[in-house]
Amino acid sequence: MEKNFKTFLKHTAKDYYNQSVNPPVVRASTIIFKSMNELRKTQAKGKKNPIGGHFDYGRQGTSTTFILQQMLKKMEECHHVFLTPTGFGSVFLSIFSVVRPGDEILVADPVYYPTRLLTEDFLKSFNIKTIFYDAHNLNSIKKKITAKTKLIYVENPGSNSFEFQDLSKIISIAKKYKLFTAIDNTWATPYFLKPIKLGFDMSIVSATKYYSGHSDVMGGSLAVNKRVFKYVEKANKVTGLRLGPDDAYLIIRGLRTLDVRLDKHQENAKKVANFLDKHKKVKLLYPYKNSSYNFKMWKKYYSGASGLMGLTIKAKNKKSVTKFVNSLRLFGYGYSWGGFESLALQQEFRELGNRKFLRLSKDEHLVRLHIGLEDPKDLIQDLKKSLRYIK
Ligand SMILES: Cc1ncc(COP(=O)(O)O)c(C=O)c1O
Repeated sequence: MEKNFKTFLKHTAKDYYNQSVNPPVVRASTIIFKSMNELRKTQAKGKKNPIGGHFDYGRQGTSTTFILQQMLKKMEECHHVFLTPTGFGSVFLSIFSVVRPGDEILVADPVYYPTRLLTEDFLKSFNIKTIFYDAHNLNSIKKKITAKTKLIYVENPGSNSFEFQDLSKIISIAKKYKLFTAIDNTWATPYFLKPIKLGFDMSIVSATKYYSGHSDVMGGSLAVNKRVFKYVEKANKVTGLRLGPDDAYLIIRGLRTLDVRLDKHQENAKKVANFLDKHKKVKLLYPYKNSSYNFKMWKKYYSGASGLMGLTIKAKNKKSVTKFVNSLRLFGYGYSWGGFESLALQQEFRELGNRKFLRLSKDEHLVRLHIGLEDPKDLIQDLKKSLRYIK
C-alpha cells in the first residue's frame, strides 16, 4: 500500500466527477451501451483483464462494488478481492472453488459452527471428506495428509475458544504437500493481519462485522493470490454470489473509520481484560497475558487485537454463569459482533458444535464478550456487578 493504512482509508475513492466524498450507489441490472460496438469492446477488455471492472451485466458488479473491491485489494495487498452477499458466502466460495468430489480437506477444529456444518456434513454428500485437526497440535496435520488432500482451512483465532495457530507452519506444510490454503480472518481484518502477504492463497473477512461496523449490513470478501484466482473466478461466475451496490456503499462508508474503531475496540478490550484477569474464577481467552502459547502466536503474526474475547468461568453451578451473563445491562445478547456495541453470549453446544479438541476442564464454562465503543469504565462496572453471581 502506497500510503499509510489510516490515510489511505480517508482519501481513497473520493468522487470528483459527482463531487461527493463517497462514491455514489450505482444500481444496475442492465449495463447499458450506446452501441453494439461499445458492448463488444467492453467484453473484449473484460476478457483481457478480468479484474479491470469491465462489466456487461449487473451481476458482475457496478462501479460501486468495483470501488469497494479496489479498496479491499489495497488493504489486503493481494491479487484480487471477490465480494459475496454474506461472510459465509465467502467461506463457501473459498472451499467450493478448489475442492472437488473425491477430495479431502483439513479443517481447524475450532471453526465457526456453520463452517463445520458445511464441511463435515453438507460436503460429505458430495463425496468430500473433512478431517478436523487440533489447532494447538500442528504436527498432527502431516499425519492426516493423504494423496486426496486438497485444502487446509484455518480460522484464526478459533471461533469462541480463541486458539491462535502458528500460521507460517501451516503455510510451509501446505507448500510442501502442494495444498491450497484458506483462512478466515474476520477477527483481525487486514488492519491487524494480512494473510495473503503471509502466504495464504485465500483470505475471508465477514464484512458484516468490523468493515461495516454498525450492525446493519451483511457482506463478505474473499481475497486471493494469483495462484487461485482462476479457480475462484470460475466458481464465482457459476454461483452468482455477488454483493449488491447498496451494501457495498455502506461497507465503503464503514471502512473510512475501520482503523479508528478497531484501535478503540482494542483499547477498551485491553482495559476490560485487565480487570477480568484479576478475577479468580475467570480465565481470559484474549491475547493479553504474555506467558501463554496463544499470546506468543498472536504476537508473532498480528499487529493488534480486536474487541472479541472469550472467558472461561470456573463455576460448579452452571446456572450462576447464566445469571452472570443475564444480569449484564450494557451488553446486548446476539451473535453478529463487530458493531459499535458490546455483546455477550454464553456458549453451548449450539455455538461450538461437535468439537474434538476443545480444552475445557470440569466446571469450566465458556462466555464470549464483544467489547464495544462505550466508556470502558461503564463496561467494567457492569461486569463487576454481574460477576458477583458466579458460584
Ligand atoms: C469468524 C466468522 N466468519 C464468518 C462469519 C459469517 O459471516 P456472515 O454473518 O457475514 O455470513 C462469521 C459470523 O459470525 C464469523 O464469526
